[in-house]
Amino acid sequence: MELETPEYIKFFISKFRELAAKDPDLPRYYKPRPYRNAAVKFRHCALNAYEDRYRLAVEQAHLNVFKFPAHKLPGCDLLSDSGTTTMTMEQWSQMLLGDEAYGSNEGYYELNAQIAETFGEKWKDSELLIFHQGRACEHALFKVLRDTLRKGEVSVEAMRKNKSGYIIPSNGHFDTTEANIKDNEFQAPNLFCGEYYRNDPDLRFKGNIHIEKLERMLAGEEGGIPLIYFTITNNTGGGQPVSMDNIRAVHKLSCKYKAPFFFDAARFAENAWFIKRYEAGFQTRTIAEIVKEMFTYVDGFHISCKKDGLVNIGGALVIMKNSLFTDNYPHFLDRLMNHQLMTEAHPTYGGLAGRDLKGLVEGFKTVVRQEYLDYRIGQVHRFGRALLRNGIPILTPIGGSAVYIDIDKFFKDVPDADSRLKGISLTGLLLIAGHRLCELGIFAFGSMKDGVETPPEPRVNFVRAAVPRLVYEDQDLSAAAEAVTVLYDNRDRIPGVKVTHGQDLTLRHFKADFEFVD
Ligand SMILES: Cc1ncc(COP(=O)(O)O)c(C=O)c1O
Repeated sequence: MELETPEYIKFFISKFRELAAKDPDLPRYYKPRPYRNAAVKFRHCALNAYEDRYRLAVEQAHLNVFKFPAHKLPGCDLLSDSGTTTMTMEQWSQMLLGDEAYGSNEGYYELNAQIAETFGEKWKDSELLIFHQGRACEHALFKVLRDTLRKGEVSVEAMRKNKSGYIIPSNGHFDTTEANIKDNEFQAPNLFCGEYYRNDPDLRFKGNIHIEKLERMLAGEEGGIPLIYFTITNNTGGGQPVSMDNIRAVHKLSCKYKAPFFFDAARFAENAWFIKRYEAGFQTRTIAEIVKEMFTYVDGFHISCKKDGLVNIGGALVIMKNSLFTDNYPHFLDRLMNHQLMTEAHPTYGGLAGRDLKGLVEGFKTVVRQEYLDYRIGQVHRFGRALLRNGIPILTPIGGSAVYIDIDKFFKDVPDADSRLKGISLTGLLLIAGHRLCELGIFAFGSMKDGVETPPEPRVNFVRAAVPRLVYEDQDLSAAAEAVTVLYDNRDRIPGVKVTHGQDLTLRHFKADFEFVD
């Protein structure tokens, strides 16, 4: 006989239920994490070794966060959410079962099946090419596309559209995507939507593309558009999500103008979480269903699996067979395969070990779980709200993977402050505090042209705190928020910096050196 729940217990169950149903956005409300630690790594550096970190930051890293030794950070390493994931026990156990055959190994077939499971049935009819990470996919895709166009290996329909120059527009190209596009002589404009420029927490889909501008570009005469690119979530635009409505609208234009449509899908599951939570009509759909709908609208995608693949290495380029893309470029897949054989290896493993593929299959299963995403994005938001409570200006609404500190606003009320390189000052001081963040602003996106420093257009001046997946507890992030607050409370005393090397280099933020100036 089934055990009856007595009234006096029912009372408490209803109270526990009320607690669990509380708005997760309340400042001091916590739910248990949906996982427990299965392994931990002790740090071997002391929090109070401030002078040591000052010396390392200045003498070894030259205030470039990419050159600072990560194992010397006692706090949060928020340089990137890419490849920094803690993998689950399920992933590690699958990795032990890795099949290390040369090409067409078991993991490849499992990954193929998982792609259809995660992204939808239609992808059963796609070509899956594995790469060691996202930018290798970008390099191959845009190089082979350029060669294809140069050789005129395009359908008559696509040929009519392509005139002198070629443009690959986006809602916001990631920096390596943009560099790969430009390196192959395409233009790479970012068509941020109108809402992007408004700091209003109620605008939920600031990652959207500007549809009218896109249509004007597609209908215009200035050049052909061989591909429309869409980054989900929009990392360059502040980690902001895109709406299903916007994706559908781009799909319509793609069909109308016969310009194939691709995703840069690095954070596809996080984007789906925002659609479910904030877009009308999606609240009763599961994340898995939303992801599948998103991917019905594209002809292909590339993905850095180091984000929503929940792995430390891996990338993939997935192209629908019999799609607008393969119709326009009938020889593309063969050319792409040649390129890959010469650079990454056979497309069925693309430079990865068989075990890496097994871990990735498992990662794609976990990443669409509602409780995982609730906790993951909730943690990023709790961190952002802690900064906001302390008065620190950040980009709102808070995105899915990172918090962006607005450097122009941070220094707005400091007399005579020139905020252009203050993002570098801030990240330099935070290294000393024991945390690593990254400037993504005037230095990272600006450039030196003919001896003249040119700010990015549109102007962006952020320091980004990217939160790795399943790595930190809220306590760690609170410590980082407090260190940022110390700087904010003393912002009039923050020194400037000067560039001592690399101001005129491409991708200069990875290579340059700086010095503090008082
Ligand atoms: C949106 C986006 N696209 C592409 C990439 C490049 O991927 P990877 O770092 O694996 O080369 C990144 C990396 O951070 C990214 O955020």
